Amino acid sequence: MKTAQIRTNFLKFFEQQGHQIVASSSLVPFNDPTLLFTNAGMNQFKDVFLGFDERPYKRATTSQKCVRAGGKHNDLENVGYTARHHTFFEMLGNFSFGDYFKKEALTFAWTFLTSPQWLNLPKEKLLATVYADDDEAFDIWHKVIGLPVDRIIRIGDNKGAKYASDNFWTMGDTGPCGPCSEIFYDHGEEIWGGPPGSPEEDGDRFVEIWNCVFMQFNRDEQGVMHKLPKPSVDTGMGLERISAVLQHVHSNYEIDLFQNLIKAAARETNIPFSLNEPSLKVIADHIRACSFLIADGVLPANDGRGYVLRRIIRRAIRHGYKLGQKQAFFHKLVPDLITEMGEAFPELVTRKNTIIEALEQEETRFAQTLETGMELLEKALQEGQKVLSGEVIFKLYDTYGFPFDLTADICRERQIEMDEAGFEKEMEAQRQRARAASSFKTSAVLEYTGEDTHFEGYTENTVSAKIIALYKNGEAVTQLNAEDEGSVVLDHTPFYAESGGQVGDIGEIYTANAKFSVQDTQKIKAAVFAQHGQLINGSLKVGDTVTAQINTELRAASMRNHSATHLMHKALRDILGTHVEQKGSLVTPERTRFDFAHPQAMTEDQIKQVEKQVNLAILANVPVAANLMSYDDAIKSGAMALFGEKYGDEVRVLKMGDFSTELCGGTHVNRTGDIGSFKIISEIGVAAGVRRIEAVTGLGVLALLQENEALLRTTVSTLNAQTNADILPKINALQNSHKALEKDLQKAKAELAKHAGSALLNDAQTIGTAQLICTELKDANAATLREVAEALKDKADNIVVLLASVQDNKVSLCAAVSKTLSSTIKAGDLVKFVAEQVGGKGGGRPDLAQAGGTEPAQLAQALASVHQWVADQQA
Ligand code: ALA
Repeated sequence: MKTAQIRTNFLKFFEQQGHQIVASSSLVPFNDPTLLFTNAGMNQFKDVFLGFDERPYKRATTSQKCVRAGGKHNDLENVGYTARHHTFFEMLGNFSFGDYFKKEALTFAWTFLTSPQWLNLPKEKLLATVYADDDEAFDIWHKVIGLPVDRIIRIGDNKGAKYASDNFWTMGDTGPCGPCSEIFYDHGEEIWGGPPGSPEEDGDRFVEIWNCVFMQFNRDEQGVMHKLPKPSVDTGMGLERISAVLQHVHSNYEIDLFQNLIKAAARETNIPFSLNEPSLKVIADHIRACSFLIADGVLPANDGRGYVLRRIIRRAIRHGYKLGQKQAFFHKLVPDLITEMGEAFPELVTRKNTIIEALEQEETRFAQTLETGMELLEKALQEGQKVLSGEVIFKLYDTYGFPFDLTADICRERQIEMDEAGFEKEMEAQRQRARAASSFKTSAVLEYTGEDTHFEGYTENTVSAKIIALYKNGEAVTQLNAEDEGSVVLDHTPFYAESGGQVGDIGEIYTANAKFSVQDTQKIKAAVFAQHGQLINGSLKVGDTVTAQINTELRAASMRNHSATHLMHKALRDILGTHVEQKGSLVTPERTRFDFAHPQAMTEDQIKQVEKQVNLAILANVPVAANLMSYDDAIKSGAMALFGEKYGDEVRVLKMGDFSTELCGGTHVNRTGDIGSFKIISEIGVAAGVRRIEAVTGLGVLALLQENEALLRTTVSTLNAQTNADILPKINALQNSHKALEKDLQKAKAELAKHAGSALLNDAQTIGTAQLICTELKDANAATLREVAEALKDKADNIVVLLASVQDNKVSLCAAVSKTLSSTIKAGDLVKFVAEQVGGKGGGRPDLAQAGGTEPAQLAQALASVHQWVADQQA
């Protein structure tokens, strides 16, 4: 069975069991800072498991794109060297959100794997593991499903801590988790390896194909397990692994899809096709991860997701190089990938050019240094040492862009150890240098012992000031020259240094013949501000008198956003309740981001109320006043203080009319009207019990309106409509025609089923005097079943018909018996016999009877039992 067919069958099976088919989510997790890449089918349902989000369905099924490189689940280093590890893979999954639990989950999995109608795997090839004390799962496997006890293995906490177990699945360090039961397939004695839990378990003989997780807890940062609102189910089956099983191959790389990609890799590296060449496997694997990541918006970069992508691309290029391909080749595999997977994942097709360009660019960029880097490495290795020094690893990393794991890959091939500690030491030294070089944000190490800075920026945008310290490369200097990057400390400054969530100011410091461009302002001590940036021309000396001028446009935008944040904070407490507490904030010129404690998503109406209250405060145009007073007086005056925040004895109280009073050191508008207007653009959950709002003010609101208007205009023209008012009617019309087409399709399918029905006569089995036709008719409803059955029974003498179909998770049955037999074999009895096995009842006339059932999973077995029943009637 082809990989694509397996994907379709899986989704279809679970759809028949009442699951909603949901599209794969992006590889870049939406709104989940705990996760680098989507690494399991359940990621997109995390909030549903946690009870923060609800969907219109309680059962879902997906084929999810996953990347396991970097982060908690990281397989990068194994790729190419085992039969079953990938950076990118597809995970087939079914999910229950507080609906069914262990028994159904395991029975579904077993039925899909073993039923002749589905994957038809030999039962004796399958084993299961359960979490050590999960007697319930053990009993389901043994008593309900009938798996012998010697093929059910209990696995305890085998990873060194409570719940640290192969049979306790956690998404990451925090989040939903629970005990799990894994199903293993035995690839046979000729492959090396032992069953799970044995010392040889890492071999490729027993391969885990399906993991059924019983989601019961939410683990918090402290490792405390909180019970989930409803026990749920999350399962995952690697599509590539199950394809290997069904295609009777022992390695994922031998399945149809991978063979074609490996052929393409061989073609592009000019070597003969071989399934035993690890480098070809690496390239075939990596083209998938890289293309899918780029399609989902990740681009090669020096940090975060982009860096992981860069590592994977460079690893692929290096393996090409190892095979002798020194030209750019990797991007040429994209069309082959699209042939294999473009139909299931149209984003590959639409983003084809972007993918090719990004890969080619990275290839060109890396090619320049790969060769020189490899020379350096070869030289180091030739000296006959068994350990590669930290210094060389670092140089490869720093100068030639060899990610650590790329060098590790090469060392592994040549059985050379790496001096990791030495490398770490070099890295730390470099980090120190980087900090010292004051890459704008990292000023903490600047040594300073002089006077404090007088901050004038609450009222002034420009001040005349004296330079009291200068820094270059983290060291105090007396002078900065043209093009130097460095930091300037002034005795007076209008520049606000980042604090309280508001970003530092940018602007200029200048004299008649020197100009320093300020790109960030940070505190280097509680009351000492450093302006970081670059001297554009001239020179600056300690003691010089300068003019310091902030960028007023950006500052004004930050102030609007900061003041609006206070009004919003108050509105949230008024509307949602006083449990709303600030958990974090970021105020930039573009927007405000505000995190606060609240247990569930805000409703649309609550969001509107907050927007209205804030805008009313803006329209009231009340003055904004700041007063210094003692902390106690401030609290008495009703000022809101942040829980857990440390305040000095004297605090600044910011009062915006009667709308808000809050302790704050930030810069604010003069009157609320200066904010212009306020609009929330998103409200999402960021952690258990914490919501995040992003909002815009002033010109940001205008930009948003303009963007939305443009979207509406495009929608109107895409729909060939005239005005906005036509949009909904047009969409309704499209939906109606869609429905009509679906109806026609149903009809056409019924016709097809009828034709299939008449062909069944040829397959009738002879049992005594009877000719039995017993089968499932795909896509048939009850009426079609009846029509087909009636027609069949009259086509010849002595016919016994039992037809079944499954639609919307319900079974329909119809039995019919030719007149000549209906005294010995009764259609009513037959249909009753079958219906009872699929959770239904039935009966009817001796020649024709219909019934239904609610357990489609039992259907295959029920159909198999008809043969014996017909024989028994004639005995
Ligand atoms: N989330 C489970 C896994 O990834 C099914 O194994």
